[in-house]
Amino acid sequence: MLERIERGRIVPIVVLDDVDAAAPLAEALLAGGLDVMEITLRTGAALAAIRRIATAYPEMLLGAGTLLDPSQVEQARDAGAVFGLAPGLNPRVVQAAANCGMLFAPGVMTPSEVEQAWAIGCKLLKFFPAEPAGGVAMLKALAGPYAHLGLRFIPTGGIHTGNLADYLKVPLVAAIGGSWMVDKALVAAGRWDEITRLTRVAVAAATAP
Ligand code: 3PG
Repeated sequence: MLERIERGRIVPIVVLDDVDAAAPLAEALLAGGLDVMEITLRTGAALAAIRRIATAYPEMLLGAGTLLDPSQVEQARDAGAVFGLAPGLNPRVVQAAANCGMLFAPGVMTPSEVEQAWAIGCKLLKFFPAEPAGGVAMLKALAGPYAHLGLRFIPTGGIHTGNLADYLKVPLVAAIGGSWMVDKALVAAGRWDEITRLTRVAVAAATAP
């Protein structure tokens, strides 16, 4: 699972208001070269969207984002999500994910949060919000004392095509997360070709030497 996320290098973060956008959006991302996506549980359409994509596009590695309580972990898993993330560190959510065997990355931004996450068994951490917190320099400084623990990070927040390569060069980074190629306005307008184009550009930036 983590290997699939690492191979993709980019986790598009989706906020979906309309469940009918789920299938064309998944197709647009796949056409652009990405078979990983995160659907945030911030809208009423999210669980139905996860269910639709899991059924119609089994090749898509589906994550659920913004998991804020244990019941959401189970709902997301039942809908077909196979990994989960959250902006922050909630031990009850971490436990719920462990109980149902879901790979889960809690959000961290401070050394104390890194230590709390590690203490309850998390090895994959979302560094959030990456750019406002200090970007690549902050991530390196934050992760430095824990390099021997084998932690991996998914920096998210303020990352785009122009700066993603800087993050991906850091060996501790498993992948980056970002919403720019699946911007709400593009999804609402059904601009699937533009989403595919932005995805291709992002994948090219992520794989450039
Ligand atoms: C999120 O929605 O999890 C993050 O806020 C995404 O950050 P971005 O919109 O800056 O990519």
